[in-house]
Amino acid sequence: MRRSAQALQPACLAPARRLLFLLWLVSRAAQACPAACTCQALETMGLRVDCEGRGLTALPALPAHTRQLLLANNSLRSVPPGAFDHLPQLWHLDATGNPWHCDCSLAYLHLWLEDHMPEALMQLRCASPGQAAHRPLGRLTGYELGSCGWQLPASWGHPRFWWDLALVAVAVLGLALLAGLLRSCREPVTPTPK
Ligand SMILES: *[C@@H]1O[C@H](CO)[C@@H](O)[C@H](O)[C@H]1NC(C)=O
Repeated sequence: MRRSAQALQPACLAPARRLLFLLWLVSRAAQACPAACTCQALETMGLRVDCEGRGLTALPALPAHTRQLLLANNSLRSVPPGAFDHLPQLWHLDATGNPWHCDCSLAYLHLWLEDHMPEALMQLRCASPGQAAHRPLGRLTGYELGSCGWQLPASWGHPRFWWDLALVAVAVLGLALLAGLLRSCREPVTPTPK
């Protein structure tokens, strides 16, 4: 009688290893730390992404597990709408010391802060345009910020959304291939009569 837990055929081990390596790469890509920043795993799960004082002029692509995001003392002027929509764990954001351009292009950041850390709205100072200069973002009304014509939710229009979707698709495909491979590997090629 055959044992139910048969050893894998040696010929199957190489492709299985390759698939596992591919899945590992995909999981790394989903967590990749932006080149300009340093990332540190938090005890409470998630990542602390430190991009302070790096001269950034645009928001870097952020890992999905970002929990604390430090952007202080850069040259950021705006945040694209939907920029934090793929970061469900994000709860702490330090964006002080940036030359924020407080027009409609900052409406998303304004809304995000209102929802997550309203106290920070008074700490962010606008650098421009004229009538907003030197005022805290929290002092500007929605009317003063204006609207750029985009609608919430705009996350499907964000490149990061499609990147995440592609990673999930590759991961699911990889797992399905691995499962199929393991199943076919356990079936004996030629039945060995005892
Ligand atoms: C930003 O720069 C200012 C002035 O150099 C400094 O006082 C402040 O501590 C810096 N903030 C952070 C969070 O590094």
